[in-house]
Amino acid sequence: QGHTAPLPNHRQNRALEESAPATSFDGTLPPFANEPDTDPSLPANQAWARDAINRSAEPGWLDAQAVPATLAEGDVDALVATAREAAVEWAARPAAQRAALLYKTADILARKRGHLVSIAAAEAGKSVAQSDPEISEAIDFARYYAHQALELGDVKNATFTPDRVVVVTPPWNFPIAIPAGGTFAALAVGAAVIHKPAAPTPHCSMAVLEALWEAGVPREVCHGVFPDEGPAGKKLISHPDVDRVILTGASDTAALFQSWSPDLKINAETSGKNALIITPSADRDLAIADLAHSAFGHAGQKCSAASLGILVGSVYDSERFRRQLVDAAKSMVVDWPTNLSATVGPLTELPSDKLTRALTTLEPGETWLLKPRQLDDTGRLWSPGIKDGVAPGSFFHLTECFGPVLGLMRADTLDDAISLQNATDFGLTAGLHSLETREVRTWLDRVQAGNVYVNRGITGAIVRRQSFGGWKRSSVGLGSKAGGPNYLMLLGSWADALDST
Ligand code: ALA
Repeated sequence: QGHTAPLPNHRQNRALEESAPATSFDGTLPPFANEPDTDPSLPANQAWARDAINRSAEPGWLDAQAVPATLAEGDVDALVATAREAAVEWAARPAAQRAALLYKTADILARKRGHLVSIAAAEAGKSVAQSDPEISEAIDFARYYAHQALELGDVKNATFTPDRVVVVTPPWNFPIAIPAGGTFAALAVGAAVIHKPAAPTPHCSMAVLEALWEAGVPREVCHGVFPDEGPAGKKLISHPDVDRVILTGASDTAALFQSWSPDLKINAETSGKNALIITPSADRDLAIADLAHSAFGHAGQKCSAASLGILVGSVYDSERFRRQLVDAAKSMVVDWPTNLSATVGPLTELPSDKLTRALTTLEPGETWLLKPRQLDDTGRLWSPGIKDGVAPGSFFHLTECFGPVLGLMRADTLDDAISLQNATDFGLTAGLHSLETREVRTWLDRVQAGNVYVNRGITGAIVRRQSFGGWKRSSVGLGSKAGGPNYLMLLGSWADALDST
């Protein structure tokens, strides 16, 4: 009865949220809740997004943003020593103090959402539709790991000794959320961080680090550096006083780091070659939308992207299904971020050799259901492509290409489909669309992937709800998943239970 004040809903007007004073924070953590994405249907938010994108398109705007310091080989020892020294005081603080600083960081990221949208657009070509959810994810990581730090408790009372110096090396495809996740996790346990941004996206990484510093995390505890072209990177990764490397990137990079330093403690999320199976019992309309969005969102530049659609029996044989899939792909707006409707967007880098092969070449037995087209002379903007008839064991079946190409394969039965899905070396994400409980159970028993999704797209894991991590060659040294309840426990060592009694 009577009037109740409306609940604060940040989705309603982002511009107001950004100009609001910082929320006061008394150090008691509120219960964890996922940060809502922006509601793009509201005119106020469309104006906010337009402002953010216009700002990013101003000449020289990106160059005026912070970049990390260049790190020469001769600087590495001093940097690691500074971080190691600073970690002593950082780890000795009550966990609640580190948690409070992460909560403040989340608050700052929330108020700077428009700024982060601008940087992701200018630097990575990321559309608002694609960057907005990853900003929510970065905020979630800060708050979630703050709670997890409290669960882990104060270091001096525990059998857990946190790492002292952690090097974080994120990728460029989620240039805000993934740099944030690894850095926040290491800081939460009490480690100092040396953060090396991905080469194409240093400004995005720095925007995350600036939020930490603004919140009050000491600069000596969290460093952003860019190793120069020489041997500085190798020296940093293999430095004896670096306890751990958190890497998200190609599996070849993980192998390179391990070749530099065979005893390296590394937690790596690596490549994927992910498939979504659709059986005849599926809700086909839903399956088509999920397949198209998982394949082509952010131009397929997601380790989690659906690169293969494995269609069982009558689904593969249905002309109507193919027509609808092609229509769904064509309905996705392919453009630069200045077009607010874009969801496909440009490639962040020019196509690799593997991607060029996938975009321009048919392997034996394949035909184009939808031929990809290069849309401008930058070489970075491509319309989605769909290959039909991908053969078991072929290049496209087994190779991660990281771009807007989807391959279709036929399977006679669900069992055959699962065999095709599991045949790759990787095991990052996998999906099934089926309305038969028995099929779902069979699939869940057999599928080999870290993240498995039923009747949902296979990208866009949400912190705490779908903690994210791989299996097989998609993961190195991971015992548990980012954004999940055990992740922080990986970032240190545990005393032997007998010794500690
Ligand atoms: N965490 C990202 C996703 O789930 C990679 O799409």
